[in-house]
Amino acid sequence: ALVVGRRVRSRKKWKRVVGVLKELEESCETTVGRLRQVVDAMAVEMHAGLASEGGSKLKMLLTFVDNLPSGSEKGIFYALDLGGTNFRVLRVELGGQRSDLDPDVEQQPIPEQLMTGRSEDLFDFIASSLHRFVEKGNDSVQSSITKELGFTFSFPVKQTSVSSGVLIKWTKAFAIKDMVGKEVAGALQQALARKGLNMRVAVLVNDTVGTLALGHYHDADTVAAVIIGTGTNACYWERTDAIIKCQGLLTTSGRMVVNMEWGNFWSSHLPRTSYDIDLDAESPNPNDQGFEKMISGMYLGDIVRRVILRMSEESDIFGPLSSRLYVSFALRTPAMAAMHKDDSPELTEVARILQDVLDIPDVPLKARKLVVKICDVVTRRAARLAAAGIVGILKKIGRDGSGGITGGRSKSDIKMRRTAVAVEGSLYTQYTMFREYLHEALHEILGEDIVRHVVINVTEDGSGTGAALLAASHSSSGSVDNI
Ligand code: GLC
Repeated sequence: ALVVGRRVRSRKKWKRVVGVLKELEESCETTVGRLRQVVDAMAVEMHAGLASEGGSKLKMLLTFVDNLPSGSEKGIFYALDLGGTNFRVLRVELGGQRSDLDPDVEQQPIPEQLMTGRSEDLFDFIASSLHRFVEKGNDSVQSSITKELGFTFSFPVKQTSVSSGVLIKWTKAFAIKDMVGKEVAGALQQALARKGLNMRVAVLVNDTVGTLALGHYHDADTVAAVIIGTGTNACYWERTDAIIKCQGLLTTSGRMVVNMEWGNFWSSHLPRTSYDIDLDAESPNPNDQGFEKMISGMYLGDIVRRVILRMSEESDIFGPLSSRLYVSFALRTPAMAAMHKDDSPELTEVARILQDVLDIPDVPLKARKLVVKICDVVTRRAARLAAAGIVGILKKIGRDGSGGITGGRSKSDIKMRRTAVAVEGSLYTQYTMFREYLHEALHEILGEDIVRHVVINVTEDGSGTGAALLAASHSSSGSVDNI
């Protein structure tokens, strides 16, 4: 009787866990109908953000980038890329002809204490790294010729020109109080001077803008760029007359890149779970970056951790409750991706990560399978929402196939120009399932006739290399071409 009783209890517990999973699946549901609502909401919010300052949670920031690299740029240019998990310095030699760029790159993780300390320390660290890098490249540090530098700063910045702007707020893991509201390029310029580096910040750009620049350099049909890494965001090539909030904006191309800051997008159509609500409430920036918190690498692992925690609280299928499960960000997205792609029959990688990262040993196979399923649900939702965001942009600029119907009114009559979107970021490039779900959703939302005109190009180091290219096209020596 005792054995039977135990079995009944364990069956009951298993039922509860399955209930938690079911609830998760239901609240993460992204039917194509729902995704289309997200597409529409994105396009509507884009209009609102362009119509007036503060008109939407989408800031739709001006970048003052009004021409994109064409290949004719010439010279040696540097770039600094700050904003993700890693910090990069680059040196690019441009030959005046479009070619495969092969920049010298140095990358290092940003010491965590610098992300939340004083701005001077952060900028001194950056300037020192650049100093070392320039020296190593046998370029004279103090040469009388001023070197041109592209600065990629991947946070919301209110630009005052292509080479200056003030930080609106921090996102992701950064929180340096004294920097908010300060001029960003100026802070770097001062640190460069302190180190005796003769360099000029020629452009201050968001990582999405760098990515768009490199994407356009390789494929002139590129109209938008998306980053899905630690954070997520997009920018695109907009007509200046559509930027209503800034009337009289004149550029030679009649266009300007707009940094959407889509990480802060919000809509009641987004499928939200109790885990998202808790994650947001416990984050340093509650009520901010809602879209980002459902999609990007900084957060996905933490959503999964929260689901496993809930299951462990409701049952003992994961054994005694591990205190590691209470630690925010204990499970990082790369570990989550590794569990997700484990296709060994015993799910040994899942077992290893649960043990090593979350301190949960001896998890039975049935429960390991559950973990893979949780990763799948969370990633699938993220990827599909990102796809809806992309289609939202295409809709805003009339490249989603709607409205392009010619006389015959049949689907095959739809006229659609080849449209390229540059994409970068570890989620898209390193997480196979994420990428596949994103593509699948693009197909579902756009339909086969349209989606074949849409090209997704992965750029490599676009956020940095693109900034160097923009430094070139905005320097006195670089020649430019408008699109
Ligand atoms: C965050 C930043 C944004 C950046 C994105 C990707 O959303 O606010 O500026 O582009 O992360 O790095």
